[in-house]
Amino acid sequence: MTESQQQSSILTATGLGKTFGKNRAVIDASFDVQRGEIFVVMGLSGSGKSTLIRMLNGLLEPTSGSVTVAGTTISGLPAAKLREVRKRSVSMVFQHFALLPHRTVIDNVAYGLEIQGVAKAERLERANTIIRLVGLDGRQNSLPSQLSGGMQQRVGLGRALASDTDILLMDEAFSALDPLIRREMQEQLIELQSELGKTIIFITHDLNEAMFLGDRIAVMRDGRIVQIGTPEEILTDPANDYVAQFVQDVDRARVLTAASVMEPARSVVTVTAGPRAALRTMRDLQSQATFVLGRDRTFAGVVRDRDVLRQVKRGETDLRSILLDDATTVTSDVVISELVELSVGSDLPIAVLDDRKRLIGVIPRVTLLAALGNVSTHTGEIPVTETIATITVSEMTDTLLDPTLLDPTLEGADR
Ligand SMILES: Nc1ncnc2c1ncn2[C@@H]1O[C@H](COP(=O)(O)OP(=O)(O)O)[C@@H](O)[C@H]1O
Ligand SMILES: [Mg+2]
Repeated sequence: MTESQQQSSILTATGLGKTFGKNRAVIDASFDVQRGEIFVVMGLSGSGKSTLIRMLNGLLEPTSGSVTVAGTTISGLPAAKLREVRKRSVSMVFQHFALLPHRTVIDNVAYGLEIQGVAKAERLERANTIIRLVGLDGRQNSLPSQLSGGMQQRVGLGRALASDTDILLMDEAFSALDPLIRREMQEQLIELQSELGKTIIFITHDLNEAMFLGDRIAVMRDGRIVQIGTPEEILTDPANDYVAQFVQDVDRARVLTAASVMEPARSVVTVTAGPRAALRTMRDLQSQATFVLGRDRTFAGVVRDRDVLRQVKRGETDLRSILLDDATTVTSDVVISELVELSVGSDLPIAVLDDRKRLIGVIPRVTLLAALGNVSTHTGEIPVTETIATITVSEMTDTLLDPTLLDPTLEGADR
């Protein structure tokens, strides 16, 4: 989500409740959905998810509370007006696809447009564009029965996208699909969402799906929303024991990001501090490399002990001439599973940079492994690498103390 999208809410539920006889299916649900976000409602079967989502597009009249969609309060709205809001603002994708069996793929996708009275040539053109978008090009003339479950749901998604509403409601839309197809659909949904900027309200009973898709997740239990938060907030700060138990089996590597595991960088020097400062830092931290920062903490690269030692011995002063760019850098939103792949084959910690390329933290591989195993990483000093320094501490110390190598203009420049 971009910052401007975060400013405005497109759907608001206030004190929503629905009672069937004596059964309170939804109790006092309040939340705001932001324009352009994927808002997931997660809970076990029977927790009230479908009842909730049906109140959001007016399919069910709430017993209490109200829903506002794109500025219009839909509760109590006459049927014709309600249809108008739905047509303009909200479309729905169902678990069991709900395709018209005797219509081809393209006619299914174009169906909503037909209902809206869009002329044939235009609706076929729009449907074709959507069909390409959802990865069904070439299947325009197939019947639903000729398609796999995954493809049928692409048609369902295509039909919802074709009507070009701002909001997509998806009720267990991927729950009937095989796990591999399902993951593929989840990835594609995220892609489509960022491409088209839709607001998606996605219902699931699957925690991993919720964590993967959701910008925010509302956790439901027995009709109540018990927590609303980002996947990371829900994992790291569950509102109660129920949520904590619920999330205990989640695949953390796919949810936790660099931001939640990074630590302050210690083995760091500024480029102007020079090789003596770099050498002293490495000796003090018993590391074989140190990160080098330019102005405003912008990340410049890495220097290794051997090169630094050589510079000091030769009386050279410019770290830039030995800067290497073999450190892996990431932004703070990269998930741990990706970090693991990136850390393979590098002996350096991963450097975490902000969008202005400033170093905001580091992730040593041990920290990454600890986060995966969910164990504490309080190991005290964590050196910049786990491999043994290639130069002994005493050699570094000797070099630093050697009066013939002393350069007073550089001494202490980094402290
Ligand atoms: N039309 C209905 N009539 C009576 N009870 C219903 C109806 N729809 C849902 N319920 C009840 O409301 C509760 C919540 O159901 P639902 O919203 O379908 O949950 P979920 O989608 O989370 O599985 C359940 O106890 C269910 O039996
Ligand atoms: Mg349901």
